[in-house]
Amino acid sequence: MNAHFDARTGTQEVTPPADDMSQLAELMQKIAQDDSLPAPAPESVFVGDGDYRAIGLEYLGHYVNIGGLKPTDRVLDIGCGIGRMAVPLTQYLDPDTAFYEGVDPVNEGIEWCVQNITSDHPHFRFCRVDVAHELYNPGGMIPGREIVLPFAGAKFDFITMVSVATHLPADEIAAYAREVMRLLAPGGRLFLTAFLVAPEDLDRANARPRFLKGKDAGSWIADPAAPLGAIGFDAGLVESLVRRAGLDISRISLGHWRGIESSHYQDIIIAVKPEDIA
Ligand SMILES: C[S@@+](CC[C@H](N)C(=O)[O-])C[C@H]1O[C@@H](n2cnc3c(N)ncnc32)[C@H](O)[C@@H]1O
Repeated sequence: MNAHFDARTGTQEVTPPADDMSQLAELMQKIAQDDSLPAPAPESVFVGDGDYRAIGLEYLGHYVNIGGLKPTDRVLDIGCGIGRMAVPLTQYLDPDTAFYEGVDPVNEGIEWCVQNITSDHPHFRFCRVDVAHELYNPGGMIPGREIVLPFAGAKFDFITMVSVATHLPADEIAAYAREVMRLLAPGGRLFLTAFLVAPEDLDRANARPRFLKGKDAGSWIADPAAPLGAIGFDAGLVESLVRRAGLDISRISLGHWRGIESSHYQDIIIAVKPEDIA
């Protein structure tokens, strides 16, 4: 692995060896051409605009190249939606050693995943959690800040939250950071996307969304009529919630939402559970 220090984010960047990268590129090309992989009907995709297959494949690349995902990892996908991240992972994770658990409050997404993914890949499992969300699950019984996921501690090597913290208030992100700390094995990694909003990001004409100050301290929202449609936070705030839970931040990769060059749209935080904590 090659490593270099990023002065802007104050984190260490690690690049996988060239052999691993060319193997991954080959696999990604194969996945891109494989029309037999399941995809929901476009009208059932409730996880945002854009190409379902292309975005899932893009994130497989980020998981490996930015998050250090390995084929043997035991993966938890918090807010797994309708399997956009899971489908390409079925081609990457080793069925003999790895497994994947996905949780989400939207029943239709979980049902589609069970019928179309678990059926062929029994080491991919999905479970509905009835956590309340004003847009995704308005009648949910569990308040997000009290979330406890139905898994034993230290069970996972890699936990992903893609485009989930961009829809949650800060106290719910904090609750998930505590759950992630409980659920990761020592040395395990969190891959979390967010909008980390610095003053200079608001000034760039090509930044999207155009954030407005939110009601809660340190929050930035795109649409006052639906504050959790897209929510960002003052740079440093999400990072401090993650650190307060006990995780170490190993990398922050800034996204092109702010109008800079980047391989990904949202910001990516990689955090690690210290090796000496069980
Ligand atoms: C924009 S979608 C992203 C889905 C998936 N991660 C992907 O990228 O395809 C946001 C997801 O977060 C889920 N969600 C909303 N509130 C949640 C919560 N409190 N805990 C877990 N997931 C939640 C939604 O149901 C939805 O599937």
